[in-house]
Amino acid sequence: MACAAGRARTFETDEDSALMKLLAIETSCDETSAAVLGSDAGRVTLASCVILSQDIHRVFGGVVPELASRAHLTTLGPVVDQALGEAGARLDDLGAIAVTAGPGLVGALLVGVMYGKSLALRLGVPLIGVHHLEGHLFAPTLEHPDLAPPFIALLVSGGHTLLLDVLAWGQYRLLGATRDDAAGEAFDKVGTLLGLGYPGGPAIERLAVEGAPDRYRFPRPMLNTLADEGPNRFSFSFSGLKTALLHAVRASPDLARDRADLARGFQDAVLAVLVEKAAVAVESRGYSTLVLGGGVACNEALRAAAERRLHDPARVVVASPRLNTDNAAMIGAAGLFRLARGERSGLDLEPGADLPFPGLVADSLLQGSAR
Ligand code: KG4
Ligand code: ZN
Repeated sequence: MACAAGRARTFETDEDSALMKLLAIETSCDETSAAVLGSDAGRVTLASCVILSQDIHRVFGGVVPELASRAHLTTLGPVVDQALGEAGARLDDLGAIAVTAGPGLVGALLVGVMYGKSLALRLGVPLIGVHHLEGHLFAPTLEHPDLAPPFIALLVSGGHTLLLDVLAWGQYRLLGATRDDAAGEAFDKVGTLLGLGYPGGPAIERLAVEGAPDRYRFPRPMLNTLADEGPNRFSFSFSGLKTALLHAVRASPDLARDRADLARGFQDAVLAVLVEKAAVAVESRGYSTLVLGGGVACNEALRAAAERRLHDPARVVVASPRLNTDNAAMIGAAGLFRLARGERSGLDLEPGADLPFPGLVADSLLQGSAR
């Protein structure tokens, strides 16, 4: 399926990234995606974005790594062809290749990285390996070209939950992360507990709309750490909440009757913690922008709760759902930024299942910290 073309974003650029088309590739998990972006003297436009979701994993209730790699192998070529076709571009028009280098499933990443390397070698164009989460961070820039640091970013996906102080593009301070399950992972596991299939997030959101808000009140994990100035102030934890759900499901005499109320109680608990921690981070830094990114940012109730909590002049910026779940357009946006800074990956680029987030600044180097 294709995602909509966005408006232009501008940033400072070096000469050789002016006026060129970039092909971006994303294969970190169960979406095979390719996108073509244009960069004209720093103005970024999205020409095409094709996303193929691997439905096979639904049968197993979660992503099966080996099946994901095999599916990427067979579909990446046609997905790239379609992205080029929709952009009206030929291989020879490409000036650079961006590819997700990690984190993710190593076999799945390997397919994209090998493809990107081969193409860059064949065309003689620069290659840039992109951090998947930095891609999620850049996704909103494709529709909100005016988005500029500093701001707080809450990145919530199936594999990660990160609260970042975005000091500048490429310069980030990690405020907090999950100590166990990621927010999306908790949605997926609770979705399975409630018999909703995989992925659980969208199904829980739909069901929660019908649920009573006060019938189940689950714990708000680690909300109390906000009050102290310790290292866990902005940390998250969702595995205990998942266990609380498991007990509630087992205790329910009629799951069909209680399912929507359970979904509502769970979602309210997760969103309460995410929103409060993100809002306090925005306020304590004196910023006016909160960016929500990653698959869980598709959740309309999350956006609405963040907007209710953060009043004028603070604003909440979220990309449209097609750009929040895994896609190559966001990888291209982050890749163009890195290329514009003169960064290049060598043909020795390797996938990193646990690739560290780039540009993290140590607390000791900062003044006026949020803690
Ligand atoms: O960013 P993403 O597409 O892939 C990863 O990088 O992991 O995120 C996928 C996650 C899944 O856990 C999925 O359940 C969750 O995003 N998700 C949602 C919603 N849509 C997707 N969670 C809550 N509400 C949603 N509407
Ligand atoms: Zn993702």
